[in-house]
Amino acid sequence: MSAVLERKQLRQRSDYTYKFNSKTGRHGWLRLTPAYSLKIVEELIVGHEQAKRIFDPFCGTGTTVLSATYHGHEGVTTDINPFLVWLAKAKTAHYSPKQISATREACASTLDLVRNQSIEPVPAPPIHNIERWWSAKALDFLRLLRAAIPAVTKEHSAEHTLLLIAFCRSLIELSNAAFNHQSMSFKDDGSFDIGFDVDMASVFSEDVRFVIRGASENPTGEGYVVLGDSRNPAEVVEGMFDLVVTSPPYANRMSYIRELRPYMYWLGFLVNGRDAGELDWTAIGGTWGIATSRLTDWTRPADYFRSTNLSTALDQIAHADNKNGAVLANYVAKYFDDMWSHFLRLTPVLDHNAELHYIVGNSTFYGTLVSTERLYAEMLAALGFSEIECRAIRKRNSKKELVEFDVVARWK
Ligand SMILES: C[S@@+](CC[C@H](N)C(=O)[O-])C[C@H]1O[C@@H](n2cnc3c(N)ncnc32)[C@H](O)[C@@H]1O
Repeated sequence: MSAVLERKQLRQRSDYTYKFNSKTGRHGWLRLTPAYSLKIVEELIVGHEQAKRIFDPFCGTGTTVLSATYHGHEGVTTDINPFLVWLAKAKTAHYSPKQISATREACASTLDLVRNQSIEPVPAPPIHNIERWWSAKALDFLRLLRAAIPAVTKEHSAEHTLLLIAFCRSLIELSNAAFNHQSMSFKDDGSFDIGFDVDMASVFSEDVRFVIRGASENPTGEGYVVLGDSRNPAEVVEGMFDLVVTSPPYANRMSYIRELRPYMYWLGFLVNGRDAGELDWTAIGGTWGIATSRLTDWTRPADYFRSTNLSTALDQIAHADNKNGAVLANYVAKYFDDMWSHFLRLTPVLDHNAELHYIVGNSTFYGTLVSTERLYAEMLAALGFSEIECRAIRKRNSKKELVEFDVVARWK
């Protein structure tokens, strides 16, 4: 992989998962959404003071459930990714002053173990090309730190969870994917490294302080975070909901499993590449590893959503002047089939008059514009929703046709 491409990819990553310094509080612990999305969600929740139960079928790092609980509502959310469920549970939990001071003490004991090297380090996680992610020195430090946290805290205790969240922040700050580090420099061969002057223990201590500051402010409402598939929410959550605010996966081939792999491997949510591909296959819009190869001979289910607009777009993508046209057309078809299953099975958990807000962007594939927002609107209309609107929120980047929408609808 060329150095230029690699840097570009890392920069793209830093736009999503790894950009966590611009917002304080629990939103900033780790997040997938850019700042403007946080703002939109916040405004929607503030604008629906009367909402009793708010649902987010695509939790991610918990933006909706967190805003809901901080504004005194009951928030319920699901995600298919167990790491994100763990994280959002931690973000919405209530922490007592006793738990906060126990975390502070546990941080000191953890760092004592690391400094004295009086603990067996965990093995390096099986991340492909791990040496590109961390220098040997950073890797040694992280392996010791990862071993020390469970040695000084009980599994599932608040201290354990809060230290692991700080660990997640540190592992990215100490990695070559961190762009905000002053001492980071590129080497001549295109790789780069954080400077050796960085005191790694103080990076972790600062992250623990940051996490503790957020944990000290408890939400006033209750948040429930559940592992589950949004293609059948009733299986894991109980209705009824009067407001749905969510940002579903986009049809843009971004793999959340790929994005989150450093955290997931270090925390043990992933143990090998095959599991990663399997999990991505279950996720809507996932296309990493085996998920991509399975798309090649995937066929649409019998009850797929019939739409002329979609069929036209699929046909154009499949016949584009590109050898990957057919597989990409399958990708797009599967994305919309999955979203159709989602909308279809969402209705049983919706209250009469429930309001929906889906924050989603359109996409292009080989020059074909896929109007995700219009296709959502078609699906919602077919299911009997009313007051459907696609409100443009912002342009996504310099490509003028790429726009983010709030797709709004009301359940009858
Ligand atoms: C755009 S992200 C959500 C971002 C979120 N608003 C946040 O605050 O980070 C989409 C999420 O949908 C989840 N997802 C994908 N397929 C799913 C499914 N079938 N059921 C539940 N969640 C799913 C992904 O794991 C990912 O976390």
